[in-house]
Amino acid sequence: MNIVAPFAEGSGISPARTAALRSEAEALYLGMRPKTRAAAGAAAHLFQGVPMHWMVDWSTPVPLVVAEATGARLLDVDGHGYDDFCLGDTASLFGHGPAPVAEALTRQARLGLATMLPSPDAAAVGDLLTARFGLPYWQIATTATDANRFALRAARAATGRPRILVFDGAYHGAVDETFVEIAANGRPANRPGLMGEPRDLTQLTRVVPFNDLDALEEALSDRTVACVITEPAMTNCAMVLPQPGFHEGLRDICSRHGTLLLIDETHTLSSGPGGYTRKFGLAPDLFVVGKAIAGGIPASVWGMSAEVAARLKHAQEHRPEGHSGMGTTLSGSPLQLAALRATLEHVATDAAYAHMNRLADRMEAGLSAVLRDARLPWHIARCGARVEVVRAPRPLTDGGQAKSAHFPDLEAAIHLAMLVRGVLISPFHDMMLASPATGEDQVERLIEATRDVVRRLTD
Ligand SMILES: Cc1ncc(COP(=O)(O)O)c(C=O)c1O
Repeated sequence: MNIVAPFAEGSGISPARTAALRSEAEALYLGMRPKTRAAAGAAAHLFQGVPMHWMVDWSTPVPLVVAEATGARLLDVDGHGYDDFCLGDTASLFGHGPAPVAEALTRQARLGLATMLPSPDAAAVGDLLTARFGLPYWQIATTATDANRFALRAARAATGRPRILVFDGAYHGAVDETFVEIAANGRPANRPGLMGEPRDLTQLTRVVPFNDLDALEEALSDRTVACVITEPAMTNCAMVLPQPGFHEGLRDICSRHGTLLLIDETHTLSSGPGGYTRKFGLAPDLFVVGKAIAGGIPASVWGMSAEVAARLKHAQEHRPEGHSGMGTTLSGSPLQLAALRATLEHVATDAAYAHMNRLADRMEAGLSAVLRDARLPWHIARCGARVEVVRAPRPLTDGGQAKSAHFPDLEAAIHLAMLVRGVLISPFHDMMLASPATGEDQVERLIEATRDVVRRLTD
């Protein structure tokens, strides 16, 4: 055993072991992927060699070039196959190219892709969303980022208040005003690393720790906050689950202070067919889900309560003529509507979730056993079909704790070591998803690869 420190002092793994795992995996990765290396050299006219710069943030020395993604498998250009538990960081939660979505897209391609007018699927999609998530009124956008931006704008228009509140460590997409955190000195600040942001975002954005109802009460008490935006469980800083009573308190405090509650289910759609909201009976005023909601096609939805809709309509009717600041040209397109309808009717079904949950049960049990056998001070957190290795001995309660359980070098080494063993997990932290297309054999391979990697780190 080479465990050097408990949670308070670090990850439990020595830097030397981490570096050795990383260099061994890097050599394997590069040695066995000549076409991948050549592809990296050929992308001369893409900034940083990739179509979107996050793709250089993966642990790989050069980006993995995917020739084919089907079901829960990837094939790279060198012919290596992977069990995909990253699934496009949730965009392909229901597997790559689900057949009903592929068929709907093929059909719709012959009938028109972008018209800026409703298609016959529009009304059905509205009905399906209400039946599934409960809110009575919906709009379609193109990314979860956009849906959050529009929902926040709607909240301000409806309440006439200027501020929003986020929880420390949250991520809601590239929504400028949500990039506020509690800095090391305990004060709110712009998040580090933001490019091209000259504004002090704390002027209009407040931030408190997740699970801290007293801090929330105080932050909302001057009644200037239009909206609290939150995931029901935080999934972007490892995984922070709500403590008992948190959601009841959150709803109550928002209601008492006239602040709207926006629940962002973009990742927690893993909880069940109606997201965490339906599973746990939450009552948001505004609701957002993107990524997987149209089976991998760029589409997102945002919903609102009858009261918010009425207030938004009133605000709309009493404004000067001009741009609303909400909506984009391709939003609500026939393409999106066809994919949304196919996903809601035929892909994100109760049966699909039953399979996803059964596999996630096995992932949780198998991975927990690996950590226990290695006596690592880590644990497995879970949100339905979403499973995460958290590098802390106990459940995290807020974003501050999540920061101290984040070890970028170790995470990158593990990620790459898993990848060269044919298993892809999320690149930003150790997150794994079970999709309807995932097989039991794939889950067993994930557990075995994890056991092997952990052994290399600890034996
Ligand atoms: C909770 C949550 N909301 C919104 C987003 C933004 O999604 P997109 O990048 O598709 O706009 C993300 C992305 O990770 C997310 O995790």
